[in-house]
Amino acid sequence: MKPAGLKAYFDAHPEIRVAIFAGKGGLGKTTSSSSLAYYMATEKKCKTLLFSTDPQASLSDIFERNFFGRGVIEVIPNLFVVEIDADRRVAEYQASVKQKIRDMYGLDELPREIEEYVDSSSAEPSMYESATYDAMAELVAANEYDMYIFDMPPFGHGVRMVAMAEILSKWVEKITEARSQVAEYEQVAASLKGERAQEDAMMAELLDIRQRITTFTDLITNQKSTGFFMVLIPEQMAILDTDRALSMFSELGIQLSGLIVNQVYPPELIEQPNLSEFLRNRLEGQRPYLEEIARKFGERVLSVVPMYTREPKGLEMIARASADLMDCKVAI
Ligand SMILES: Nc1ncnc2c1ncn2[C@@H]1O[C@H](COP(=O)(O)OP(=O)(O)OP(=O)(O)O)[C@@H](O)[C@H]1O
Ligand SMILES: [Mg+2]
Repeated sequence: MKPAGLKAYFDAHPEIRVAIFAGKGGLGKTTSSSSLAYYMATEKKCKTLLFSTDPQASLSDIFERNFFGRGVIEVIPNLFVVEIDADRRVAEYQASVKQKIRDMYGLDELPREIEEYVDSSSAEPSMYESATYDAMAELVAANEYDMYIFDMPPFGHGVRMVAMAEILSKWVEKITEARSQVAEYEQVAASLKGERAQEDAMMAELLDIRQRITTFTDLITNQKSTGFFMVLIPEQMAILDTDRALSMFSELGIQLSGLIVNQVYPPELIEQPNLSEFLRNRLEGQRPYLEEIARKFGERVLSVVPMYTREPKGLEMIARASADLMDCKVAI
């Protein structure tokens, strides 16, 4: 089979404004995101924002330019890149949590245990993810670009938050209910005493958390405007992992737009007369997995990207990878 390429998918879904590339580490999320962003900016002339919070500064690496923590940078006309320093965002968030606690309880200084507790939360991966998702939702809400492309960092498929969202949302709802009952009593008590009821800061904070969770969940599960892609390679582990991810996604209500098979040795190479032993082995090694991918995922495969002889880095290689991703040339 030969997939139609990612261009056909975007042509058929012109309302997509957000593209997310997920998948296990090191298979090609950054390469695919950059390739799509390049196409959107150059061919479609869309004002495109390519975004990452990877602490490894992978966009800086692929574009061979330093973007990390430097805000939005226009690389070529219409292609804007931003690489957010998530550690800094987590630190800012912690500072704001501490400030809120001080304000709520009218403290000049936080008790040491509380200070330490808030600080220790930065070691939590969820803190990091939450900073990422917040930044994503914020960017889309600002509505300054035609297309948003998110290169997810290598964690939990970038969608753990969706799984947590429902639980968190229920939890926040329960507490909000309890708080609003308390607030009613306080209001009555205050009016009896002739005082104005204090604004409930805790309640506002809870509502804010819930708002942020639902904004992100809505963004990622919106089938009309969000394209959600997974990248895999022809190897056993990647296939198993994609299988697992697909069932996890469907449980979470996330519709996968499709799969990209990356790093494929073009099968027709086998006919080359002086094919090296190395390449022949690689080709033969991939064959059963490609067959399995075609059998298992079939129509879900949107494009097959060849294995390059060197790492796709720099604008020229991104342009090439982009052409291969958008117009699939490899049959599997
Ligand atoms: N088609 C390809 N041919 C050759 N090398 C490739 C190809 N696609 C990706 N690579 C290389 O493989 C490595 C991993 O690719 P990439 O950084 O895109 O993966 P990733 O999924 O973003 O990884 P991470 O999860 O670490 O962010 C990089 O060194 C990249 O240059
Ligand atoms: Mg990456």
